[in-house]
Amino acid sequence: MKKIIVANWKMNPRKLSEARRLIAAVNKVKTKNKVVICAPFVYLPLIKTNLTLGVQDIFWRETGPFTGQISVPMVRQFKAAYAIVGHSERRSLGETDAEINAKIKAVLAGRMIPILCVGHGLQAIDSEDEVLMHIQDQLRADLLDIDAKKVIVAYEPVWAIGTGRIPSPEHAEKVAMFMRIKFKVKKALYGGSTNADNSGLFLNKDIDGLLVGGSSLRPAEFAKMIRL
Ligand code: PGA
Repeated sequence: MKKIIVANWKMNPRKLSEARRLIAAVNKVKTKNKVVICAPFVYLPLIKTNLTLGVQDIFWRETGPFTGQISVPMVRQFKAAYAIVGHSERRSLGETDAEINAKIKAVLAGRMIPILCVGHGLQAIDSEDEVLMHIQDQLRADLLDIDAKKVIVAYEPVWAIGTGRIPSPEHAEKVAMFMRIKFKVKKALYGGSTNADNSGLFLNKDIDGLLVGGSSLRPAEFAKMIRL
């Protein structure tokens, strides 16, 4: 089955030339999967790809006196079709559920597809019941008055992000099923320390795809992951 694999480059790479090299390497890979590259805003108009582009955050208003913010109509001009919202790295900078909710609404109003991240605040020792309760609270708040069928949600236990530690694929599948059955989300992804060695474990489960950080910056590794 076709999966969706989202690259979250975060605040990388340092130079446009490196971004171009990275995208050129990924462009060459043949894949049946849907690949979305969420690059830093400044690189969007400058990288050439037939892959789908996305952004890592977005502001909820279209224009106005909001110093430093970037809006949906601005990024749409550069073919960004997806927007990550509520990543734990942003939540830890103080982003609230109310702000995340407003951002998802703006993304949908602009006919882009939101990728909502949940899992901030979790610990590796949490029981599965605790995890489901926590995810439920986040989804209720973040998707308030939003049609969940239009929203992709990535389960990213915060302790697994960038640490090399992963939850069991069975657990990630259980959370994905919970999000699809109980909240009717469009797609349920897993993210956190995925790489070419472990991505198959998740993609072979009833999980719709992956949100990939560090490994998306290593072209050979990422190529293996999207080819699967
Ligand atoms: P990681 O990041 O793959 O580097 O753990 C995932 C993410 O933060 O989306």
